[in-house]
Amino acid sequence: DRVVLAYSGGLDTSVAIPYLAEKMDAEVIAVALDLGQGGEDMEDIRKRALDCGAAESVVVDAREEFAADFCVPALRANALYMDRYPLVSSLSRPLIVKHLVAAARRLGGTIVAHGCTGKGNDQVRFEAGLSALAPELRVVAPARDFAWTRDKAIEYAEARGLPIETSKKNPFSIDQNLWGRAIETGFLEDIWNGPSEDVYAYTADPATPREPDEVVITFDEGVPVAVDGRALTPYEVVDELNRRAGAQGVGRVDLVEDRLVGIKSREVYEAPGAMTLITAHMELENVTVERDLARHKRGVDQRWGELVYDGLWFSPLRRALDAFIAEAQRRVSGDIRMTLHGGRAVVTGRRSGDSLYDHSLATYDTGDAFDQSQAKGFVELFSLPAKIAAARDAKKD
Ligand code: ARG
Ligand code: SIN
Repeated sequence: DRVVLAYSGGLDTSVAIPYLAEKMDAEVIAVALDLGQGGEDMEDIRKRALDCGAAESVVVDAREEFAADFCVPALRANALYMDRYPLVSSLSRPLIVKHLVAAARRLGGTIVAHGCTGKGNDQVRFEAGLSALAPELRVVAPARDFAWTRDKAIEYAEARGLPIETSKKNPFSIDQNLWGRAIETGFLEDIWNGPSEDVYAYTADPATPREPDEVVITFDEGVPVAVDGRALTPYEVVDELNRRAGAQGVGRVDLVEDRLVGIKSREVYEAPGAMTLITAHMELENVTVERDLARHKRGVDQRWGELVYDGLWFSPLRRALDAFIAEAQRRVSGDIRMTLHGGRAVVTGRRSGDSLYDHSLATYDTGDAFDQSQAKGFVELFSLPAKIAAARDAKKD
């Protein structure tokens, strides 16, 4: 058999290579995706898998695909799980699944392996995706199915002399990509403990004094297409804002989160580009989207975030919600100016050829075109049902 392993280059999935090869009497094909996580050289990761005993090792540059097909839809949905978490890991899993399946088909894999535990969301996202795209593949998750713990993995790696840093010093479980970075476990499991500065890698300390940064983001139908007037790909937009907003400490989130498996879990995130873009996009929607459509979309956005968080990217409902969102984005074009400073991304200006803001209707100065005489009758009829009910209740109580 050939096992296709979702490989990150970290301890757990590195140990999984020799372990799966022995346990399943199989050849291991390691598949790693470049999702713009930065920090590590993908060629090093590719070689490390081979050094750990993989029969083949594949690295896929999925940066633009991830940005265009996953981050942009999340942005158009203003996706924030529990109003706070921009779905960093939830967005990458379906794309990893897609490339695992492609590798399995190309290289003759019959089993797929991932490094998730049985306590988390990621196992659901991997396996729900696999069952939608390639139900014929068998799934194995060593951490969950063979009860691998971190201690055991470190011991195993040391005993075999695997070429990985088995530092017990780094107590965090980290998942990172272009859309952000998730940090969990270690001392953060005590929810009274504040995150120390060394938890963060994408963001500088927002409390450090520095000059503010002003940025103009241009959207076309809800897709970010330029920064400060320079046309960029979606990947380049997020990458640039990660750097600039990250330097101002924007996008830190510290959250006790409801996992799909029923537990509450302490999660720390940093997503400078994502949080800046979502703030900008929401404000451009405020300017360009008609009121009832905007109100309805808020519910759609929330459902979209929950669905994707819950691992159901490959589902009819997600496709249907995306069709609604695409329609709702038709006029979401224009510029948003923001000041990035002190851990916040604050909108200071909006400009759009599709604006619904009408100065002559909004103004309190001369030139007012709003007919206030119509308001009196409107208010009376609008409040009529509540007035009648209140009169009824006053008699009864
Ligand atoms: N709780 C977050 C989520 O469910 C982050 C998961 C991070 N994954 C990881 N393997 N460290 O999306
Ligand atoms: C895991 O438990 O495998 C990581 C965290 C998660 O999936 O939510």
